[in-house]
Amino acid sequence: MKSSIFVRVFCNFILNNNMVINTKETMENYDFKLSRIYDKIFQDKDYYAETLFLQDAFSRYSKIKLEKILDIGCGTGRHSSEIAKLGYQVTGVDPSSYMIQIARDNNKGISNCEFIEGNLIDVKGKYQLAVSMFNVVNHIMSLDELILFFEAVRCVLDDGGLFIFDCFNGAATSIDPPRNRSIEKKLSSNKRIFVNTVCETSLMESRLTMQNTVEYEGEHFSFNLEHRLWSPMILDELLRKANFRLHKVVKTFNVDVDASISDYKIAFICDTK
Ligand SMILES: C[S@@+](CC[C@H](N)C(=O)[O-])C[C@H]1O[C@@H](n2cnc3c(N)ncnc32)[C@H](O)[C@@H]1O
Repeated sequence: MKSSIFVRVFCNFILNNNMVINTKETMENYDFKLSRIYDKIFQDKDYYAETLFLQDAFSRYSKIKLEKILDIGCGTGRHSSEIAKLGYQVTGVDPSSYMIQIARDNNKGISNCEFIEGNLIDVKGKYQLAVSMFNVVNHIMSLDELILFFEAVRCVLDDGGLFIFDCFNGAATSIDPPRNRSIEKKLSSNKRIFVNTVCETSLMESRLTMQNTVEYEGEHFSFNLEHRLWSPMILDELLRKANFRLHKVVKTFNVDVDASISDYKIAFICDTK
């Protein structure tokens, strides 16, 4: 009871003081060109399986009824689509107006799915499950911003709700930093897309810059993505500070498999204290 009053007072403080997470550094890369090509680059990503993982985790670790899901950093709305198909009410929020536009186009006519261009302070109401998928937390570049982000997530969750996110494992990437890669993909339209990625990791700053060059339909363009490589221990500590309790860190995307130090991609399953 006491903790719930504390959380309410605290949330009012966060929301009324318009505390905003500075997303400029990473966000301006999710621009017009990247948003148009994003779903093509990630055509093979299994959003359906990831969404079933989210549903499975919720059914195991929360006791409350799941009705409303918030998809934070929803991008082009692919998880939101799958969530809506499962029958839940879903709200996607993303600071990139370009990504939100594609999310709206991708989900036209779906009544249980809505999108908000903005930050968590623009989200109204409470949810039973908040998800933030595909490295969104790695786009939050400072400790202060990340704690603010977690606190704001806590504020939009019902007591007993769950927060699930995936990210790079900063411990794994410090042992074996991400490598350069070139991928050529055949799209369902039979066209081809070529993506070359140069990775630069700063161990001192726990930062990863991915410089990507894309070739599609005879056009070339480049975009850089900045990431902060958070270690699981730091994430755990910040989650506690934001009144979350960490249930499990798993290898993506299997609720039954605990993450190991060498797993590059991991997912955090947390509930509200
Ligand atoms: C790699 S994309 C992931 C998009 C989507 N979740 C998916 O799985 O395809 C990262 C997204 O995070 C968004 N983003 C960046 N900083 C953010 C922040 N501070 N809060 C919420 N979203 C953010 C970007 O605009 C972008 O759409």
